[in-house]
Amino acid sequence: MNKQLPNKTLVAKSFGQAAANYDDVAVLQRQTADELLERLLLVKLQPECILDLGTGTGRNLDLLAKRYPQAQLIAVDIAPAMLQQAKMNYQQAQGLKRWLPTKNKPIYLTGDAEKLPLADNSVDLIFTNLTLQWCDPRTSFAEIQRVLRPNGLLMFTSLGPDTLHELRQSWATVDDYTHVNMFYDMHDVGEAMMSAGLAEPVLDTDRFILSYDTSMALMKDLKVLGAHNVNADRRRGLTGKQALNQVAIAYEQFRKNKILPATYEVVYGHAWGSDKNNQQVANDGSISIPVSQIQRRRTS
Ligand SMILES: C[S@@+](CC[C@H](N)C(=O)[O-])C[C@H]1O[C@@H](n2cnc3c(N)ncnc32)[C@H](O)[C@@H]1O
Repeated sequence: MNKQLPNKTLVAKSFGQAAANYDDVAVLQRQTADELLERLLLVKLQPECILDLGTGTGRNLDLLAKRYPQAQLIAVDIAPAMLQQAKMNYQQAQGLKRWLPTKNKPIYLTGDAEKLPLADNSVDLIFTNLTLQWCDPRTSFAEIQRVLRPNGLLMFTSLGPDTLHELRQSWATVDDYTHVNMFYDMHDVGEAMMSAGLAEPVLDTDRFILSYDTSMALMKDLKVLGAHNVNADRRRGLTGKQALNQVAIAYEQFRKNKILPATYEVVYGHAWGSDKNNQQVANDGSISIPVSQIQRRRTS
């Protein structure tokens, strides 16, 4: 799992700058969130406290509030500007209801998924859509397990290594710098979930192909989303016109039926919070959870 991690300050800055226009291009993000919400319908839950981790512009916050009107929502994001946007969007979506006294006003917290500003065993449901790919899996899943109550549920999507492979290959014809973020594969993600002590982790992947007329249009979308390259070994300074032309030429090899594809490998996952007092850590670092506890955990 030796992947270069994105620079946190740049991640926060990049997403912060994207906050105002993010929703205009967040097509994939809406699709994966809807799929996650649909999967959530299969589980009978009455969460008292829900964390929307990496809440972004807060679209899922409103949907979660409608689904679980009794729950206290907490929105955490590393970019304060995203949280401001989320707060504005949430109030707009609530309409006149926002004036009613209700326990359900979300709490907005600037914070890092790798160091959550929340107490141990304090959350029943963690919903996190396309955020964990920006984090170290071991640290973030350990934090998730720490704040999840025993029997609490984690539902997430992330991105796998095949994501944007066309763009990565095209940049490789220009130079050796990292131009496209690198993503962990399912094996690494599963291992991190297990070693964090999360119970019954389940993972699967799906592919989405977005269509573009030009590679420039794709790179522009990534910038608007705030999801462009934030790797430590990215090339500094402005990217020259010549380099971009070379990327455009290399990308043409992928053109099919007049369109350029941009592949996204989406990882879907869920797991349960386990009782920290009942875990037995073996010499090899693996964690055993008593079967009795697993049976109690099943609610669907
Ligand atoms: C692709 S957006 C997804 C936003 C939202 N979940 C959605 O479905 O539209 C990723 C979000 O994660 C946030 N983020 C990135 N790294 C983070 C971290 N380490 N901790 C918390 N939030 C993070 C970004 O600021 C951004 O708002």
